[in-house]
Amino acid sequence: MTATIINGKEIAVEIRKQIQSEVRELKEQNIVPGLAVVLVGENQASRTYVGMKEKACAELGIYSLKIELPETVSHNELVSKIKELNSDPAIHGILVQLPLPKHINEIEIIETISPEKDVDGFHPINIGKMMTGQDTFYPCTPYGIIKMVEYINIDPAGSHVVVVGRSNIVGKPVGQLFLNKNATVTYCHSKTKDLAAITSQADILIAAAGRENLITAEHVKDGAVVIDVAMNRNSQGKLCGDVDFAEVKEKAGYITPVPGGVGPMTITMLLFNTLKSAKLLDGNKINA
Ligand code: GUN
Repeated sequence: MTATIINGKEIAVEIRKQIQSEVRELKEQNIVPGLAVVLVGENQASRTYVGMKEKACAELGIYSLKIELPETVSHNELVSKIKELNSDPAIHGILVQLPLPKHINEIEIIETISPEKDVDGFHPINIGKMMTGQDTFYPCTPYGIIKMVEYINIDPAGSHVVVVGRSNIVGKPVGQLFLNKNATVTYCHSKTKDLAAITSQADILIAAAGRENLITAEHVKDGAVVIDVAMNRNSQGKLCGDVDFAEVKEKAGYITPVPGGVGPMTITMLLFNTLKSAKLLDGNKINA
């Protein structure tokens, strides 16, 4: 079997058109969704991601505010900045780009963001809501993966979803979102024994470990949906995922490429969450 490629760029364009049209409608009510992105230090990958987020906001008519702070910023200075953004009525979403410098306590920073503006879905209150099946801001990459699976018309209910990787940003929440959709979920990680024995049972396999060529044909069941979340650099400096694409595409039913798969969905769902927040926070102004 040769897998159907799930084109993340195409799906992202479809969802962005819908967001853009809702942003236009809100503007007629004098509401402009606003996203603040806080960037600390000089991490090049973080700079690139933040640039992509700003560009995407501009394309859709979302106001974006970039706050750049030096690597040496103190924990308290960063906390004060976030508190300022929490009470700024022009800002509906706050994103602090991770990772943060070592001297800053990431968990405390995330907990400083108002849960009502936590468009990353990382605040423990929002994680708790997600775990208890409530509507909230879901983390953007996991939410984008759910949207991709919806787009190919696959209902995860009753499917075996295997997640490889257990990060707070992707692995753990993506498994939870699939559980909320009535899938049977198994988590694998670096200490898992006989990875292939487990992943080869997956109807939907999520690779989010950050290890080039971790997933080969022997790890995949015939016809499975394979979602590659990783963004690794290979020895030639080329972007690649965790999946040996050439080999696995001959066995899977569906597969996401890297780049052009999950990547474009992450920013799209950030825009989606920012719009959602504007509607929730300023909804009372509509037709008031
Ligand atoms: N760093 C890598 N991915 C993310 C993300 O989704 N959100 C934030 N805030 N930082 C990240």
